[in-house]
Amino acid sequence: MLIVHRKKNVTKLIDQSILSGKSIGLVPTMGSLHKGHLTLIKQAKDKNDVVWVSIFINPIQFNNINDFKKYPKNLKKDVNLIKSISKKINVFVPNEKEIYDGTPKLKIYDFKNLDIELEGKYRENHFNGVATIVSKLLSLFKPNDIYFGEKDYQQVLIIKQLIKIEKITVNIIICSTVREKNGLALSSRNNLLSISERNESSIIFESLSFLKKNFNSLKLESIKKSIIQSIEKNKKFKVEYLEIADSKTLQIQQEINLKKSYRAFICVNVNEVRLIDNILLN
Ligand code: PAJ
Repeated sequence: MLIVHRKKNVTKLIDQSILSGKSIGLVPTMGSLHKGHLTLIKQAKDKNDVVWVSIFINPIQFNNINDFKKYPKNLKKDVNLIKSISKKINVFVPNEKEIYDGTPKLKIYDFKNLDIELEGKYRENHFNGVATIVSKLLSLFKPNDIYFGEKDYQQVLIIKQLIKIEKITVNIIICSTVREKNGLALSSRNNLLSISERNESSIIFESLSFLKKNFNSLKLESIKKSIIQSIEKNKKFKVEYLEIADSKTLQIQQEINLKKSYRAFICVNVNEVRLIDNILLN
């Protein structure tokens, strides 16, 4: 297994892979890997000749310095988890200077309103930060396939838009959300929860599932209100948003027209740990 820290060494290896006609798969991550990340990596291993996992906690996508500082890190464990899938997978672990050559510069994109609601509304410039790093990774690795999780559904639409804007030829592969037995979506941030908080957080997916069953029959505003109330009965839980949006445009809906496809999106702060999830409704 190769662990590479420098871009110039990545470029050498990528040039060799391209010359020998090998297909390249890239899985971008911020580390602290869990089974969700590992399913992305396994899919890449099954499809591509060469697989790269990048591990980089990208400072410019965090709008909250504390969230950035306390983001969990565990490189040794990450490397072992990747090794347990295959010793042939390569890992890119750059530092900030290697990526940004000095002070990080945020690129500002026109995401056609996909960044206005949901995460974009509550995390200023988050998606410009995500797109800036993903654009850099795409030009470094020139992958045939890049892998993302449906758990960050808005991120997937943003990356699709980025690829259009920058006219990059790459296939995006979207992997379904991996969950704990109790339904809680796996997330690196779950490491920051106590065991009882993790158990109690099952209410997030329960709420989405309830909404999926009932969104058709009840008034949206009243069902949302009652879900938020029942989550916030637990004083440690604060709902940042619960919205139903058009699956393509991410426009928030107050009423439903069953000819279109909708998703429900939720963000809950559990003792200051920010958890997000989403579900396809119809
Ligand atoms: P990170 O949160 O580490 O996630 C890396 C990838 O794993 C993302 O595509 C994410 O959607 C996916 N993922 C996370 N939890 C998952 C789960 N429970 N099931 C399936 N997939 C899951 O997303 C980022 O990093 C960053 O924004 C990044 C794209 C690396 C840019 O910095």
